[in-house]
Amino acid sequence: MDFQLLRATETDLPFIMATERGEGYDAVVGRWDEARHREAMVDGSHAYFVGVDGSAPIGFAILRQWASAERVTLVKRIAVVVPGQGHGRVLLAAVIDRVFVETDAYRLCIGLFPDNHRARRAYEAVGFTAEGIARGSAFFHGVHRDELIMAQLRPEWEQRRPQASKASPG
Ligand SMILES: CC(C)(COP(=O)(O)OP(=O)(O)OC[C@H]1O[C@@H](n2cnc3c(N)ncnc32)[C@H](O)[C@@H]1OP(=O)(O)O)[C@@H](O)C(=O)NCCC(=O)NCCS
Repeated sequence: MDFQLLRATETDLPFIMATERGEGYDAVVGRWDEARHREAMVDGSHAYFVGVDGSAPIGFAILRQWASAERVTLVKRIAVVVPGQGHGRVLLAAVIDRVFVETDAYRLCIGLFPDNHRARRAYEAVGFTAEGIARGSAFFHGVHRDELIMAQLRPEWEQRRPQASKASPG
C-alpha cells in the first residue's frame, strides 16, 4: 500500500460525506450535511484528514479539540470505504502519529458503540485501551446511547513507537 495521510480540504467533502454514508454505517457512525462540515472545517477545533492509497482516497478521520490547551484530543469520526481489510488501522495509526507529533496532546480518545466489535478491534490494534462506558453520551438518531470510551496517552504512544524514531538520550 502506498499510503499517505493528508489534511483534507473542502474539495474532499464529497468523498467524506459519501464515506460516512457507506452501506450499513448508519447504525455505527454519525453523518453531517455539507453546511455542518464546512462550519467544522473552519471553527478552529476540528482537523480533517483523508487517507490515500496512491491517489485513491480510502478513508477519513475528523479530530476535535485539535491542539487544545487542555491537551486532550478526540477522534470525533472515522470511516473507511472498504472495512475489514486493515485500512482503518493504517489510517488511524497515521492519525495518532500526527496528533502526538504535531500537537502537545497528552490524551487521545475515541468513543464507540459497545457493540461495534470491528471498530474496537481495530482501535486496540493501534494502541487504544478500553476505559469504560460513558452512559448516554451519544445523542444518536434521537436516542441517548451509551458509548465505550477508549483512549491512549502520550507515554503509551512513545512506548509503541519504533526505536529508530525515538530521540536518542543525552
Ligand atoms: C471502524 C473502522 C474505521 C475500522 O477500520 P477497518 O479497516 O474496518 O479495520 P481493520 O480492518 O483494520 O480491523 C478490523 C478488525 O475487526 C475484525 N472484524 C471485522 N468484522 C468484525 C466483526 N463483525 N466482529 C468482530 N471483529 C470484526 C477484523 O478481523 C479485524 O481484526 P483482526 O485484524 O485482528 O482480525 C471501519 O470498520 C469503518 O469505517 N466502519 C464503519 C464506520 C465506523 O464504525 N466508524 C467508527 C465509529 S466509532
